[in-house]
Amino acid sequence: MARFDGRVALITGGASGIGKATALRIASEGGAVAVADIQEQAGAEVVSEIEAAGGTAAFVKLDVTSEEDWNQAVDTTVATFGKLDVLVNNAGIGDTDPIEVTTVDTWNKVVAVTQTSVFLGMRAAAEQLKASGNGSVVNISSMYGIVGSGVSPAYHAAKGAVRLLTKTTALGWAKEGVRVNSVHPGFIDTPILGDTDRDMLIAGTPMGRLGRPEEMAALIAFVASDDASFATGSEFVADGGVTAG
Ligand code: NAI
Repeated sequence: MARFDGRVALITGGASGIGKATALRIASEGGAVAVADIQEQAGAEVVSEIEAAGGTAAFVKLDVTSEEDWNQAVDTTVATFGKLDVLVNNAGIGDTDPIEVTTVDTWNKVVAVTQTSVFLGMRAAAEQLKASGNGSVVNISSMYGIVGSGVSPAYHAAKGAVRLLTKTTALGWAKEGVRVNSVHPGFIDTPILGDTDRDMLIAGTPMGRLGRPEEMAALIAFVASDDASFATGSEFVADGGVTAG
């Protein structure tokens, strides 16, 4: 038995970076995966890669800021795979400016994609996750949902909110058979880093390197799986030592 045999997972932001690595990992362990993203081409390529490796997946077009899209994505996942056991709320975007020059437009955009999305996702999937009898939600926050960096106010506020939204939902669902946890990556080498100076990020990381998406996927898969069966409302940090100082 593989860890995700007979399980169905919906992963947002599944077309790239950490979400893609998580989709590949869960599928490689037997799970059927709904790869949900706004990037259709890249998402379809992830599905092809999973299928080429003998796994099961489908692309689901989902803008995580849209209530309507969320309802459709959950319906499509259940229509395709019969149920929904695992939700990974991974899609996110960041801001990079100091607070003085951050516009309300930037604030609202980052909060919508990075924070409100997690609320919408858990609400849309609630009924199916409870019906699973063994549901698991993994919300991707950040080390910047725990500590500050001096810039990116919207991102820190959104990621901090994801941390507490996770805990209160975990308590609400503790007797409903649905675990809810957050994962807090450090600097991981994915497209979200844009043209940020990698050497600066490496210099700020005690382990002296960036993390790989596959390392986050391994942690997310652990938290999503029955190996973490007594963990709920918890935060799992993997940041190369940044927040240890
Ligand atoms: P990425 O940019 O490679 O992937 C993000 C994915 O989210 C993309 O596929 C993108 O199309 C999708 N997305 C963006 N807006 C969306 C929307 N409105 N609806 C649906 N999908 C949307 O970035 P990465 O690094 O894989 O990020 C994944 C998560 O990990 C994010 O929540 C990010 O904040 C978090 N994270 C990443 C860190 C890093 O250093 N890479 C550090 C800490 C947290």
